[in-house]
Amino acid sequence: MATPSSSDNLMETLVSLCKRRGIIYASSEIYGGLNGFFDYGPLGAELKRNIRNAWWQDMVHRRDDVVGLESSIIMHPKVWEASGHVAGFTDPLVDCKASKQRYRADQLFFAAVVVDGATIGYVSALESERTAEELQEKAEALKRKKAVQGALAPVAMKEFTEATPEQIPLIPSPATGEPGSLTPPRAFNMMFETHVGPMRDSSAVAYLRPETAQGMFVDFKNVIDTTRVKLPFGIAQIGKSFRNEITPRNFIFRSREFEQMEMEYFIHPDADWLACHEEWLKWCQDWLKSIGLPESHLSLFEHPKEKLAFYSRRTVDIMFKYPFGVQELWGIAARSDYDLQQHQKFSGVPQVWFDEATKAKIVPHVIEPAVGVDRILLAVLCAAYAEEDVKDEKGNVEKRTVLRLHPRIAPFKVAVLPLLKNKEQLTGRAKALYQKLKRRYNVSYDDGGAIGRRYRRQDEAGTPWCVTIDFDTIEKPGDTFTLRDRDTMQQTRITEAELFALLAEKVDNA
Ligand code: GAP
Repeated sequence: MATPSSSDNLMETLVSLCKRRGIIYASSEIYGGLNGFFDYGPLGAELKRNIRNAWWQDMVHRRDDVVGLESSIIMHPKVWEASGHVAGFTDPLVDCKASKQRYRADQLFFAAVVVDGATIGYVSALESERTAEELQEKAEALKRKKAVQGALAPVAMKEFTEATPEQIPLIPSPATGEPGSLTPPRAFNMMFETHVGPMRDSSAVAYLRPETAQGMFVDFKNVIDTTRVKLPFGIAQIGKSFRNEITPRNFIFRSREFEQMEMEYFIHPDADWLACHEEWLKWCQDWLKSIGLPESHLSLFEHPKEKLAFYSRRTVDIMFKYPFGVQELWGIAARSDYDLQQHQKFSGVPQVWFDEATKAKIVPHVIEPAVGVDRILLAVLCAAYAEEDVKDEKGNVEKRTVLRLHPRIAPFKVAVLPLLKNKEQLTGRAKALYQKLKRRYNVSYDDGGAIGRRYRRQDEAGTPWCVTIDFDTIEKPGDTFTLRDRDTMQQTRITEAELFALLAEKVDNA
């Protein structure tokens, strides 16, 4: 990957590429945008759809043990009481009374500044790749400012959630640099509330779902009663989720409206849940690699036992090396039978499976791989982006920007380019090929400008192949086109049948 020099630059470059090429726009941009909300433009909508389709195809169609579901976004409010979201889906919120900024207490860090064993004050910094260094630098600056002599101890960084009531008034706000304005953390529920029907009172309160997963639990009985699934089996769903994140950030990485692809895999309580969890962990990593994410950018994070939710037996996150740090991409959790038990308790409807072997009714346990489409899309863009020096037709060196997207998820699979715009024989053949390809694939037709410039435009959009209809096509036997490969820039000649065979291999059967 040849990329801009710094990670900040890469994010800036990507954000501007996304805007310029119609991949992602800020939502409601003409009104100044809305923090945490995004729109996918024509190219982005295709890329996102291709990611969803690839996941659905591999997770549902190509497996025998997973079925699909589309549940409603607004569900009975009791669902969220049973799941624990009403009481516990909170982040610790800290206000700065002076600047009116809001922070997540677990993303705000502080340290005591200790000189010769005595605390001379506190410093604070927000979570970043270099929080510890920033705290150390601020500690040195405070020591200088206060003109204190002696040895400065290395800072011991702590989350603001760990600050004692005595420490809180002494910790400076990251916004002002002055102490005294930060409030103690308070639990902030991230569910968006709305009202169902004409009444606006508390009896009408409902929530936009913060995860798609509860749909699979609430419809568990429906699915086993109306299909022929047998344990172990999964229910998968793709859909929008909404979280009123305190600090949406890093472009589409953490937003307030996003899309999830989740699957609940129901297993017998006596099944080897650890082996099943491992299998799904491997499946998810292999899948990410299959759509083009480099192995070098993927790693695993095992949640420490003491930090697991009480119902979770094990959670492992697949992490991706984004330009702003290594962050969670896909969480794979072993959730025991917690959710079905809760819904059984709150609804009074048994959530059981009849085990033919033992003639017993059992409540299955669950392995849950849960991933965000937007996070995959951002990872894909980061991994695919490259800048290269190449020579144009006259031998001059120029910069080429290319998105090396896997053909399966690239917005356009092929671009059809007539060599000249005003030569009927060329455009006629090009349009015929374009119409034929379009019935199966999303294809671009571009007859504007020099051929080199058209190749560059397609490189930037991530189109894996360009086919040029040139004089050899119309003058020589064989009806062949120039096929230009995005990654190697090699040009070969190809027939229509060979082109369809290439697409079948690299797109349909990938
Ligand atoms: N049902 C379990 C669940 O929702 P989660 O870890 O909260 O677990 C699963 O979310 C995945 O959804 C995350 O790994 C991430 O990919 C995506 N996700 C979560 N919050 C997000 C947000 N605010 N913006 C974008 N994606 C998000």
